[in-house]
Amino acid sequence: MGRATSKVTIMTLAVSPDSEWWRSAVIYQIYPRSFADSTGDGMGDLPGITARLDSLKTLGVDAIWLSPFFTSPQKDAGYDVADYCDVDPIFGTLADFDAMQAKAHDLGIRVIVDLVPNHSSDQHVWFTEALAADEGSEARDHYMFREGKGETGELPPNNWESVFGGPAWTRVTRPDGTPGQWYLHLFDSSQPDLNWKSEWVRAQFRDVLRFWLDRGVDGFRVDVAHGLIKAEGLPDYTPAPDGGSMGGSGSTDVGLEPAIDSDGRNTPPYWAQEGVHEIYRDWHSVLEQYDGERVLCAEAWVEPLTKLAHWVRPDEMQQAFNFTYLETPWQAASLRRVIDNSISSFATVGAPSTWVLSNHDVVRHASRLALTAENPQGAGIGPKSPGQPDPVVGLRRARAATSLMLGLPGSAYIYQGEELGLPEVIDLPDSARQDPTWFRTNGERYGRDGCRVPIPWEPGTPGYGFNSTGASWLPQPTDWDRYARASQVDVEGSTLELYRAALALRAENSLGLGSIEWIENLGPDVVAFRNGAITVVANAGASAIELPAGRVVLASEPLAGSELPGDTTVWLAAE
Ligand code: BGC
Repeated sequence: MGRATSKVTIMTLAVSPDSEWWRSAVIYQIYPRSFADSTGDGMGDLPGITARLDSLKTLGVDAIWLSPFFTSPQKDAGYDVADYCDVDPIFGTLADFDAMQAKAHDLGIRVIVDLVPNHSSDQHVWFTEALAADEGSEARDHYMFREGKGETGELPPNNWESVFGGPAWTRVTRPDGTPGQWYLHLFDSSQPDLNWKSEWVRAQFRDVLRFWLDRGVDGFRVDVAHGLIKAEGLPDYTPAPDGGSMGGSGSTDVGLEPAIDSDGRNTPPYWAQEGVHEIYRDWHSVLEQYDGERVLCAEAWVEPLTKLAHWVRPDEMQQAFNFTYLETPWQAASLRRVIDNSISSFATVGAPSTWVLSNHDVVRHASRLALTAENPQGAGIGPKSPGQPDPVVGLRRARAATSLMLGLPGSAYIYQGEELGLPEVIDLPDSARQDPTWFRTNGERYGRDGCRVPIPWEPGTPGYGFNSTGASWLPQPTDWDRYARASQVDVEGSTLELYRAALALRAENSLGLGSIEWIENLGPDVVAFRNGAITVVANAGASAIELPAGRVVLASEPLAGSELPGDTTVWLAAE
């Protein structure tokens, strides 16, 4: 290597080539509502997924994770589960799930399902029974019921706010029509929090795990894995201004009764409590009773990374989403720092880092990386949001950012549609929006609908081939022909072909099991490292730099001459 002077520092990831599959897997998130619709009713479904699985094989992923398809009133797009062991009719049947999984396994693709343990739907029989039962009864104890404050209990038990906006408590009405107790819901009022101090609740979820493990799933993505246990006494809490909605720990400068943890952070009394860990150790032992290396992946919005690493200690989960990486701006020094911190933090517990840039809760990275104003997670973007992204800059940065991410050792997550370069849909009509965030904030936050629009498969057909009728639960933009999968297959330079090439090279060179050696002194805007036989060079600045020596095997943009343009990543091999 090198026309440019380079200095090398070594960051190793403690894995061996015969490591478990999840250490290096590329996992593709399917959002079933929006992937493929076999019935034409505008809602994606399991047979739709089955019919399109071949395209994921061609893409080169190792596993799929499906967002919830369980019985649900769909108040939060299925994250409000009314029966953990059945399929909602809008998505099909258990037999459809079995067929989908069998096809995936035939193709060598593992299947991860979503487990939503922090809360159920208010339509779940556990909750309807709790409501019907007496105050103080065993059935009530399955959820977080409390007396209100004030003379007649007219005030909520504490000041906690829902992640989706508004109060985190709702008061129930007794059979005689008088107001009764309050129940906690960290999300929508249709999503009552379960009481994880209850042994009964723990037993129910062991059964849920076994139900899906017996059916052959390869693992679970665990929703809100930082939220199950709440601090004793449920103390009041006021988030720091930079706290982030899904649980950033924030700083310590405000707070009625701030819970300062050992990191000096103002940790909310409902996130990242020590008590969650015994639950995951218990689940670990359930999974261990099955063959085939089944896994748990934590959706835990926990900082710093050294603390998040507690979720992936050897006797807990295998993976945790690295949202610190997702939230890192497209800026070289920050990227390098987060990569260093991720690898070293997870290495302390012998776990791989994961990498992720998009999912169904955040602004798609082809738009997010070009935002020019602050945009807290969950706020979304709509027509009136400040700092509107330039779509050309956004896509260019997204391609460069993905090319950087897929060169890193560890496991990478891809969200459906990012391989097509899909942007956030910003101009959804207000009347079409469905995210509870939109309603609970009276339209102040647009929420997450913009990243959930059904994806395009074929140009020039109704619904772009999402189905055959053109019906769509969220309206698709009129200019998506160019993003359709079929418009990109075998088209040189398309985003789809960039992903396919990167995934093939990643597999060929075992990059997921590698380790990185930083290459320094290529300039302040450059992130560069060697991972085995591949050198990854990302220029996150605006100006071109001299292209380091080597044979270009992947480039996120076309190259001309000996320059590496701004917002571009290349992978180099020995000449
Ligand atoms: C899911 C969200 C969901 C929330 C409540 C999450 O973090 O990813 O989509 O709204 O949990 O279940």
